Amino acid sequence: MNLKDKVVLITGSNQGLGKVLAKKVAKDGAKVILLARRENLLKEVKDEITKDGGLAEYFVCDIRDSKQVTKTVNNLIHKYKKIDVLVNNAGVWTDDESEKRKPELRKNAFDTNVFGHVQVTEEILPYLNKDESIIFNTISTAGVPDIPSGNNLMWKSYGASKWGMVGYTQALRESLRDTNTKVIQYFPGGFESNLYENAGRENPHNQPWMMKTVDVADIIIFALTRPKDVYMEKIVVSKKK
Ligand SMILES: NC(=O)c1ccc[n+]([C@@H]2O[C@H](COP(=O)([O-])OP(=O)(O)OC[C@H]3O[C@@H](n4cnc5c(N)ncnc54)[C@H](OP(=O)(O)O)[C@@H]3O)[C@@H](O)[C@H]2O)c1
Repeated sequence: MNLKDKVVLITGSNQGLGKVLAKKVAKDGAKVILLARRENLLKEVKDEITKDGGLAEYFVCDIRDSKQVTKTVNNLIHKYKKIDVLVNNAGVWTDDESEKRKPELRKNAFDTNVFGHVQVTEEILPYLNKDESIIFNTISTAGVPDIPSGNNLMWKSYGASKWGMVGYTQALRESLRDTNTKVIQYFPGGFESNLYENAGRENPHNQPWMMKTVDVADIIIFALTRPKDVYMEKIVVSKKK
């Protein structure tokens, strides 16, 4: 897909990977729709994109809240009519240690990492461009059973939420097999972002096991911009020692 003039909705785009990706697709000429909860950060990203000559608009929305999702989708479809690319990227991290202190984090992981994406996707589906469109789901190597970092021994709920998203994504992909919509599953390993800081983890930045955010975003751009008949269904990427 050539991203020029395409409408690209990215959830979780006021920080981390979503922010870097939003700036990249805007540089490629797309109209970017930013979505997250913290408005001050959304505004910052929008302003940075606009300053660079790109087009962006933001919507404040908590994807865990189905009413907010419905209202947001209605508002953005009223303006844009159709969506070319949906990137389900918002996410929260949690681990077994934190859940001992705050058991509600387990539910929060599923509400955000699974139900939130399902709600956004199901609301957007009728408005996807019927000629060519892409649903791109950022999951994690935590959703890949056959590689070492997919063992999830210290973050069972987070891992399970990512496995849940794999199940939904695979079923969605098959249900759309005979349409012009691609459904891409992305499984990155650890990378620099605000994910671990937001979860209150110690030493949340610049760890040796983290890939650069920009490298992780470049792979998304590559997958989105393949020709219409080239289907990268699953992408696994991790840090090489
Ligand atoms: N960083 C890693 O090592 C890594 C590895 C594999 C996979 N991933 C996945 O990559 C994706 C992007 O994460 P990141 O690492 O870039 O983390 P991040 O910097 O913490 O960004 C997460 C984004 O999600 C948004 N978000 C969280 N809960 C939300 C909600 N309920 N409604 C709407 N937006 C919400 C946040 O904004 P607000 O808080 O303002 O809403 C933020 O924009 C996530 O799905 C994550 O699980 C990350």
